[in-house]
Amino acid sequence: MGFSSLTLPLWGIFFPRSYSSPGLCQSMAMLPPATCLLSLLLVVGMGGAMPSPRLPPQGCYMAEEAGERTFRCSQAGLNAVPTGIPNDTRKLYLDANRLASVPAGAFQHLPVLEELDLSHNALAHLSGAAFKGLADTLHHLDLSANQLASVPVEAFVGLQIQVNLSANPWRCDCALQEVLRRVRLVPGTGTGIVCGPDARPDLVGQEFLPLAGEEELCGAGRGGARRSTDVALLVITGGWLVLVVAYLAHYVWQNREEARRPLKQAPVLPVHSEDSSTLSTIV
Ligand SMILES: *[C@@H]1O[C@H](CO)[C@@H](O)[C@H](O)[C@H]1NC(C)=O
Ligand SMILES: *[C@@H]1O[C@H](CO)[C@@H](O)[C@H](O)[C@H]1NC(C)=O
Repeated sequence: MGFSSLTLPLWGIFFPRSYSSPGLCQSMAMLPPATCLLSLLLVVGMGGAMPSPRLPPQGCYMAEEAGERTFRCSQAGLNAVPTGIPNDTRKLYLDANRLASVPAGAFQHLPVLEELDLSHNALAHLSGAAFKGLADTLHHLDLSANQLASVPVEAFVGLQIQVNLSANPWRCDCALQEVLRRVRLVPGTGTGIVCGPDARPDLVGQEFLPLAGEEELCGAGRGGARRSTDVALLVITGGWLVLVVAYLAHYVWQNREEARRPLKQAPVLPVHSEDSSTLSTIV
């Protein structure tokens, strides 16, 4: 029994027609399912000769579109930026997946990348170095339809790009205003930048562009960063004041104690105590 069950999968390899996949597994009903699956994989692996030892991530495929190397992983169920993207890729589509963040240097091994579509994911966080290494080539970036409330300005420094930032729950803060000063928006996508629930109460549901035009969110007392440094300064100044007052109080109290002490010693050295008490009052 042991021997024949081992040889069955091999039969499948040499006579694939007589053992089409369902038949193979049925004939091995006695075997545990894992063994059956393994032998099936073996058959498939031997049958289809793979041209490249490095398979593209599942759900992804390469294509030549208008003479440009394109790598498409749309709706591939990805949780992270896949590895194994060819380094000559010019257009990369990672849209409609479940990406939650873009780590630092995620695309730095793609020296000729021009277009990057990250739309319709669950992106809530971008590293400040997310697009590191793409400054010379990337000119189109789609971040629309994600969960971005804010993005680090550093991520866009040096990039000459058009971006689609629509359909995100923007906090509409200084960072977003700074980013919009550095990038160009894909024409017609400005109205899609709307403040989300994390924004200042009077901004929620408002379009950001008209607002950013009339209000300086990074100005003194307005921007989040500025305001927090103001608060820090206030706390430090307050702390110093409390320290100084405490020291003064301590000093006064100690002086009083010293002024009192000689009076107690008065019976022992009456003359000297009088001197010192007048001295301390003078001081
Ligand atoms: C891709 O990598 C190969 C081998 O590492 C290298 O020879 C080639 O120049 C690279 N292509 C680009 C566009 O950088
Ligand atoms: C920008 O993103 C939105 C939301 O994903 C999409 O509906 C729109 O077509 C995009 N605009 C362009 C010009 O790509």
